[in-house]
Amino acid sequence: MPGLYYLSLLRHTIIARIIKRSCMKIAIINGPNLNLLGKRETDVYGNMPFESYLDQLKGLFPSVSFSYFQSNIEGELVNELQRAGFDCDAIVLNPAAYTHTSVAIGDAIAAIKAPVVEVHISNVHAREDFRKFSYVSAKSAGSIFGLGLKGYELAVRWILDPK
Ligand code: DQA
Repeated sequence: MPGLYYLSLLRHTIIARIIKRSCMKIAIINGPNLNLLGKRETDVYGNMPFESYLDQLKGLFPSVSFSYFQSNIEGELVNELQRAGFDCDAIVLNPAAYTHTSVAIGDAIAAIKAPVVEVHISNVHAREDFRKFSYVSAKSAGSIFGLGLKGYELAVRWILDPK
């Protein structure tokens, strides 16, 4: 009976989605100088070190398996994008200053399988003109900027429930 077939298909789809959602692997990748969060230009970036924020994020999403990588070196960021891009379900990326300069990071995003959400803590469009251009936005699923560290949480929420 076609009705029964569709019902069973629907059940399988729902179960597959629940399983996928319950063991999501999300990579968070931060670019240069973001290791200084909490100390660096606190009027722009706030007082919290990223490691403390990451603990909060893990607490909010206990079913997500997070990996975290930060580097001040462009090639290391490309390497991590290539690694996570075929291993993780999605990537939350703040390329920091490389956003505005790195063709290599833009190309890496285009090359990988996992969708990337671009996050900026500050409102890059309300700052210097050079921060308005991004090599990353056009290759990303979407971008969040100006919402502080909460942007990372919002990115994860979208990854878990994009509809
Ligand atoms: C940043 C914005 C960039 O323009 C800047 O170079 C950074 C941080 C942000 O999160 O607001 O280092 O990506």
